[in-house]
Amino acid sequence: MVRNLLFSAGILLAGVLILTRCTKNHLPDPPICYQTDIEPLIVSNCTMSGCHNSSDREAGYDFSSYAGILNAVEAGNYKKSELYKVLVIPAGEKRMPQSPAEPFTDYQIALVARWIEEGAIQSLDCQSACDTSFVGYNGTIAPIMSTYCTGCHAGSQPQGDIDLASWATVKPHAQSGSLVGSVRHASGFAAMPQNGSMLPECAIRQIEKWVADGAQNN
Ligand code: HEC
Repeated sequence: MVRNLLFSAGILLAGVLILTRCTKNHLPDPPICYQTDIEPLIVSNCTMSGCHNSSDREAGYDFSSYAGILNAVEAGNYKKSELYKVLVIPAGEKRMPQSPAEPFTDYQIALVARWIEEGAIQSLDCQSACDTSFVGYNGTIAPIMSTYCTGCHAGSQPQGDIDLASWATVKPHAQSGSLVGSVRHASGFAAMPQNGSMLPECAIRQIEKWVADGAQNN
């Protein structure tokens, strides 16, 4: 009895450790997006020939669809979910994906656990599809500026005397805080885009990330 309790406490602690450790390791903001974070992970790791696809249905599971994945999930309780349990048991017969495939990383396990805790939902607004792991000026910021800002902020007489058409001219506004302040509609800044609706949340987060990383010419 006592041993059982200790054992459960140990599992719980390990789970919490994995979750908290990985939360700090850039786990996306909730909610986890099934379409971009979960389905590709499960489909690519579990549905190969001989495994959990619609024709082989190993152990009765077909993980090639949302409905099939749900069969191994107890929504809201990752610890009771077969899908989670097989990822964390010690290497051997039942641990998935089976050797010689690599086990899931702590990060991937935490993603699955949190998706289940959040209700194992299929359709969400998928904010986590917003990639802020690396935000570069050329690939991300310049296109945002030219889509939303340079209609007013470029040319020989840019509005507000603010030119957002190049890295060198955007940078001072990034460093002063007015770039983020204006797109966040923070108090003390003119709300941008002027007269327009706020930028999509993802674009704002990408701008914030780029600024926080030093507004580099990257
Ligand atoms: C329709 C024209 C227009 C668009 C589009 C526009 N701006 Fe502006 N922006 C202005 C004008 C005019 C000012 C200066 C007047 C003011 O402060 O209200 C200004 C001011 C600013 C300022 C200074 C704000 C402050 O409080 O110091 C920043 C930063 C800025 N814009 C960034 C942007 C960004 C980033 C975008 C695109 C997401 C954008 N603007 C889109 C017209 C525009």
